[in-house]
Amino acid sequence: MRQPLVVGNWKMNGSLKQTSELLGSIDDNISDKMACEVGVCVPFVYLAAAVQAKTKLAIGAQTVSEYEAGAYTGEVSAMMLADVGCQWVLVGHSERRVLFGEQDQPLLAKTLAAQQAGLVPIYCVGESEVQYKAGDTFKVIKQQVNSLLADSAVDLSRLVLAYEPVWAIGTGLTATPDEAQKVHAFIRQLVAASSVSLAAKLRILYGGSVKADNAALLFAQKDIDGGLIGGASLDAEAFISICQRA
Ligand code: PGA
Repeated sequence: MRQPLVVGNWKMNGSLKQTSELLGSIDDNISDKMACEVGVCVPFVYLAAAVQAKTKLAIGAQTVSEYEAGAYTGEVSAMMLADVGCQWVLVGHSERRVLFGEQDQPLLAKTLAAQQAGLVPIYCVGESEVQYKAGDTFKVIKQQVNSLLADSAVDLSRLVLAYEPVWAIGTGLTATPDEAQKVHAFIRQLVAASSVSLAAKLRILYGGSVKADNAALLFAQKDIDGGLIGGASLDAEAFISICQRA
């Protein structure tokens, strides 16, 4: 059995005060006994404060450097993230891929750096609107997932995958539960080609305009193990009800 996981992605939003308030309201309304594991990925500068708030939520970062240390102005290493108590890190979110030109090879290096530091990478894949409309979803996903699987140094037992159709992120559009399930099953099949047992254990999250009212149907799909939540994770009430649905 895979434990459901819901992870909020705050993106570049909030302030120190909002970080503490939002974490506090979420924490007050989730229980240790909840079936689902809950985490939030906050901006770098608020990570330490978020960890120090000592909530039931696991704290994650939104990206990480592929380098260990040294002359890389502006970068934050995986060791630094682990050092402040961070447990998760998003790798290859579509906004990083599209807006900051991150490509498969450096993303692989980031994944390995995260794992070496003891962090769990949440590796994001997803097709663009043009690719979706051209019917290339499975082709794109296969290429993105296989580039990750091609490196035998990646430890699939300490990794989460997230399928986020780029056209669904922040747009209010979502893949239908059936459409999403097909892609999730396909991803699991690709992983099974490397290891059947790891594929069975691997958590695959769905992301892209998940809200309280569409979460239940999405999470009910056999191969959808929870969600990566952007916009709705900035609203404590909406985020909590999504967690309850998982
Ligand atoms: P959204 O974002 O829920 O606002 O669509 C999802 C994400 O970017 O991870």
